[in-house]
Order: sequence, then structure tokens, then C-alpha cells
Amino acid sequence: MVRQLAKRGDKVIAACRNPSKATELQALKAVFVYAAVAQVEAIAPNGFDVLVNNAGISDDGAWTVPVDQTDLDELRTVFDTNVVAMSQKSVIANMSSILGSVTTMTQFGDTVGLPYRASKAAVNMVSVQFANLYGKQALIIFPLHPGWVQTDMGGSQAPLQPPESVSGMLNIIDNATPATNGKCMQWNGQTLGW
Ligand SMILES: NC(=O)c1ccc[n+]([C@@H]2O[C@H](COP(=O)([O-])OP(=O)(O)OC[C@H]3O[C@@H](n4cnc5c(N)ncnc54)[C@H](OP(=O)(O)O)[C@@H]3O)[C@@H](O)[C@H]2O)c1
Repeated sequence: MVRQLAKRGDKVIAACRNPSKATELQALKAVFVYAAVAQVEAIAPNGFDVLVNNAGISDDGAWTVPVDQTDLDELRTVFDTNVVAMSQKSVIANMSSILGSVTTMTQFGDTVGLPYRASKAAVNMVSVQFANLYGKQALIIFPLHPGWVQTDMGGSQAPLQPPESVSGMLNIIDNATPATNGKCMQWNGQTLGW
């Protein structure tokens, strides 16, 4: 996402937890303004137009844990990262997942993977509540499913490469209107059932 935004000339402020390990971000330093709190005001004196809440975790092997054997510490950990840490601020896209959708849950097994899936269902609820609150104030807020993507989380079996997912998501973000506020969007422009 940073690469595509920087390429088209947007000013990008990317944050990460371990800069020394973020080799791809480091390589992009030349084309985007490297995060420094003091620089933010100079770059964006009028604030941000788009905020993507991207961070998310899922534990290995979660997909086989039956719902009644869910580890409560695991549930708290996943919720802390995927839901509680979400902030709110023109366009706010909260990274959701089709795995948080009740409408489509039978496609992926309907009694497994509770922490991640419940956390993404909660991302949807949090997004809609803030969409209801701030959508009337020229903010557009919505949960966004990136597709199944070849990342560390998505794995090598995923059908989508990151550039394709990102360009689809940027298309939705760029073209978001008040009608998008509070909808559950997918990378390909379709809405997703709750
Ligand atoms: N890949 C898929 O198929 C897929 C499908 C649906 C939804 N999603 C969602 O898309 C988003 C991005 O996932 P991804 O596929 O890119 O996963 P990923 O490859 O595992 O990357 C997750 C990112 O989240 C960051 N992160 C995790 N915990 C964090 C925390 N507590 N504070 C700050 N950053 C934290 C990680 O930072 P570090 O590098 O520092 O660990 C990493 O950059 C997530 O919200 C995920 O749930 C992904």
C-alpha cells in the first residue's frame, strides 16, 4: 500500500513496530517521508484524509480450535490488537475480513477460529457505530476486506497478490462517497454481508 501510494505522489506516513526488520519499508524511504512525529505537522498541517487501520493478528492453528475450546487469553490478545487498538478520525478504512462475516461463515467452517473471526465481526460493529456517529460530519468510515492475500498471514495458497488487493482497496478508498459510509466493503468493490 505504501508503494502504490508513494508512486502516485501521495504523502505517506507509515509506522511500524520494528524499523530495523521492516526492510521493504526501509527501501521505500527515498520515495516516502519517513515517519517522524516532528515532520507530521509540516507534511499534513490540515490533518489526514485517509487513515487505514491495518494491524491485525491471528494465531497459528486457530482454524481447527472448536468454539467451546477457545482460549480466553488468546481471545483477549486478538481483540486487543484487532479491535481495541483501532482509532477513529475524511476516510477511515478499518481492515476487516470475510472471516468476520456471519452471512458467509459456512464457507469457512462455522464452529472454528473464534478469536480472529469474532474480532473481525467486532471490527465491523465498531466501524458501523463510528460511521453512524461521524458519518454525518463528512467522515466516511467503513470496514474493508482485502481479499485472501499472499502475506505472512494469508500464506502462499492465497489467490491474490498484495499489489492487486492494494489497488482494489485504494480504488474503494479514493471513490468512497457518503453512500459508502458504514458499509462492509471488499477489495473488489463488492459489499460483504455482515
Ligand atoms: N492476508 C489476508 O488474506 C487477509 C484477509 C483478510 C483480512 N486481512 C487483514 O488485513 C490486515 C493486514 O494483514 P496481513 O495479511 O498484511 O497480515 P501480516 O502479513 O501478518 O501483517 C500484519 C501486520 O500487522 C502488524 N501488527 C500486528 N500486531 C500489531 C500490533 N499490536 N501493533 C502494531 N502493528 C501490529 C504487523 O507488524 P509487525 O511486522 O511488526 O509484526 C504486520 O505489519 C489485518 O488486519 C488482517 O486481519 C488479511
